[in-house]
Amino acid sequence: MTIAFIGHGYVGLVTAAVFADLGNTVWVVGRNRKKVENLKKGVMPFFEPGLEELVRRNTTAGRLIFTLSYEQAVKPSQIIFICVGTPSGDNGEADLSDIFSAADNIGKAITGYKVIVTKSTVPPGTNRKVAETIQKVKPDGSTFAIASVPEFLREGTAISDTLHPDRLVIGTTSDRAFRLLTELHKGIQAETVFTNVETAELIKYASNALLSTKISFANAIAFLSENVGADVESVLTGVGLDRRIGRSFLYPGVGYGGSCFPKDVKALIALARKAGYDFKLLKAVEEINREAGAKFVEKVKKHFNGAVGSVKLAVLGLSFKPDTDDMRQAPSIRIISDLVAAGAQVSAYDPIAMTNAREVLPKSVTYAANAYAAAGGADAVLILTEWNEFRQLDLVKLARSMKQLVMFDGRNIYDPVQVKNLGFSYYGVGRM
Ligand SMILES: NC(=O)c1ccc[n+]([C@@H]2O[C@H](COP(=O)([O-])OP(=O)(O)OC[C@H]3O[C@@H](n4cnc5c(N)ncnc54)[C@H](O)[C@@H]3O)[C@@H](O)[C@H]2O)c1
Repeated sequence: MTIAFIGHGYVGLVTAAVFADLGNTVWVVGRNRKKVENLKKGVMPFFEPGLEELVRRNTTAGRLIFTLSYEQAVKPSQIIFICVGTPSGDNGEADLSDIFSAADNIGKAITGYKVIVTKSTVPPGTNRKVAETIQKVKPDGSTFAIASVPEFLREGTAISDTLHPDRLVIGTTSDRAFRLLTELHKGIQAETVFTNVETAELIKYASNALLSTKISFANAIAFLSENVGADVESVLTGVGLDRRIGRSFLYPGVGYGGSCFPKDVKALIALARKAGYDFKLLKAVEEINREAGAKFVEKVKKHFNGAVGSVKLAVLGLSFKPDTDDMRQAPSIRIISDLVAAGAQVSAYDPIAMTNAREVLPKSVTYAANAYAAAGGADAVLILTEWNEFRQLDLVKLARSMKQLVMFDGRNIYDPVQVKNLGFSYYGVGRM
């Protein structure tokens, strides 16, 4: 099949490359000449494990083609996927301007029959408006159907998530569109939920909101554990062994971040408000998430008796989660900014996010070549992202170069007893 993707971000580029690898001819439309030229040469706009090789292989085979031209991509394609960004706009609502600009450009370029699919996360009702936009500008004689196929991939494991998703959601009222989409996805094994467009749109928000709720619940139990002398990790293991609950996403820490959870929780609160429902539960989820970062900062300040002015902190991990260089809404931004504002000196290290981090972190932050270099002369080490390479650091080596032995483990990746036995003061989240 010949298909097209609008947008070559995490969703557009990964999905396009996977469908090309399954043997389809895939066009990808970008809007930035330099990025499109780079992609043609195999230079990725972001880091995702395995993506560069996948893109190069399929570009060389002629199955993956990058262009700035909607006309060139839309004309030969049977299905066109909209994968542009939907960031937070006014009042937390999703900013849909890129969606409608893409729809307008697709509409002007369609010929014959096309299926236009929105993969981006959009509020219920958006696909209908996409249809209206296309209807207004499409050439006479051309026809189209719309569908919502929300994306559930996770950065860091995006390729395998695309190939082996837990479920495939197809929202459309057109049988022809459903048949074409089923045919395209036959190389992907997944339970399929076939439903209407609005339901598919809401499934995506409900999923991200529930995952965020689990994280905030785990954090609330962590706050309480500290007050009553319990160990949150054992509490959540005990809770998670109940098969009705499970342990997945019950992770206490410094809060959720990234390009999806914060904006999608906000957007669901906003869309509920517009639809006449006050989503109080999600307002609390946001508040607890804010508290998770703030309480971590308070712990650091309290250890140094409120005086972090002459303190050097080594921060390990900057990206919002491991295996990505994505700094969007990373908890590290707020935590480091607060500590720097209080006078702390920060030396940071992240395996791949430092280039992006320089653009969003305070200018006074310095960057080290590895974890040990970051810890040189430090009064404390702060772990903010659970990269695998931080899980088994040589703590004896780390301790040798530190001025004071203090660890703030914002992801609970160390055993408190083991760390304390090496002479460190240890602060986890929700544990003694
Ligand atoms: N990142 C994730 O893990 C993830 C997972 C599931 C769903 N989503 C959702 O998918 C959507 C895309 O997310 P992303 O992370 O890929 O975003 P992104 O910001 O990485 O990429 C969006 C891309 O769209 C391009 N673009 C915007 N308007 C365009 C236009 N008119 N024509 C051509 N290109 C255009 C941008 O240049 C950019 O390359 C969002 O709605 C997001 O919520 C993201």
